[in-house]
Amino acid sequence: MQTLHEIAPLRETLREHRIAGRRIALVPTMGNLHEGHLSLVDRARALADVVVATLFVNPLQFGAGEDFGQYPRTLDDDREQLATRGCDVLFVPSVETLYPGGLESQTTIHVPDISEGLCGGTRVGHFDGVATVVSLLFHLIQPDIACFGEKDFQQLAVIRKLVADLHFPIEIVGVPTVRAEDGLALSSRNGYLTASDRALAPTFHLMLSRCRDALSSGQSPGTALADATQALQEAGFRLDYLELRGPLLAPFDAAKHREGRLLGAVYLGSTRLIDNLAVTFR
Ligand code: PAJ
Repeated sequence: MQTLHEIAPLRETLREHRIAGRRIALVPTMGNLHEGHLSLVDRARALADVVVATLFVNPLQFGAGEDFGQYPRTLDDDREQLATRGCDVLFVPSVETLYPGGLESQTTIHVPDISEGLCGGTRVGHFDGVATVVSLLFHLIQPDIACFGEKDFQQLAVIRKLVADLHFPIEIVGVPTVRAEDGLALSSRNGYLTASDRALAPTFHLMLSRCRDALSSGQSPGTALADATQALQEAGFRLDYLELRGPLLAPFDAAKHREGRLLGAVYLGSTRLIDNLAVTFR
């Protein structure tokens, strides 16, 4: 596996692959890799000839007071795991390399509507930062395919709209959430949890699953969501949001939608956890 830090050698390497007619798949990450990230690499490996992963803790997508400084940086470990899973090229740019003009004057991308509400309601500007860095990576790498996790379901929806609106010739592949045995969705932020919070964390997934089951067996969304909200609060979570949405995150319409998505975010101490589940209605 080649590890590259600068744009010129990255372009040169990818140009050679492109000339040879190879299909390129991209897996963007912020590092501190776990099986969730690696499942994206496995999918990319299965779909393309060349797998490019990127590792960049993107300051533009962190709000003031969020964990940009504290975010775990584990490059040596990450590199080893990526090489083992068959990644071909790892791009690890510095902030100065990606944003040479500084963060303040960086041209940004805003994806309207889909970026509002849910995580975008709490983390204002977050999806502008995500859309901007992902657009930059798409321009630099020009992949045929890019893989993103369903764990960050709104992010996946934002990227699908970005690609459609800007006519990027890139196939976006959504990959199912990888969970710990106890149900907790794997996340780099799980490492922030104290032992007692880590023991409580899977209850979030359990409550979401119960709410999903209640919804699919015909309980009204109002009742099912109110019950789950109460159960989460009683268990010790501080709720950020819990919502039922329709396909493509449209407002849920019981008369129209046979499928939906249940999405939630909670705090345990200062750690924020997100999760989501597909809901099928009879
Ligand atoms: P990061 O949180 O490092 O996640 C990188 C990719 O891994 C994302 O597509 C995310 O959805 C996926 N992922 C994380 N946990 C997962 C899990 N448990 N199961 C399946 N996939 C999982 O998301 C970001 O970085 C950034 O916002 C990024 C897209 C790289 C832009 O900076």
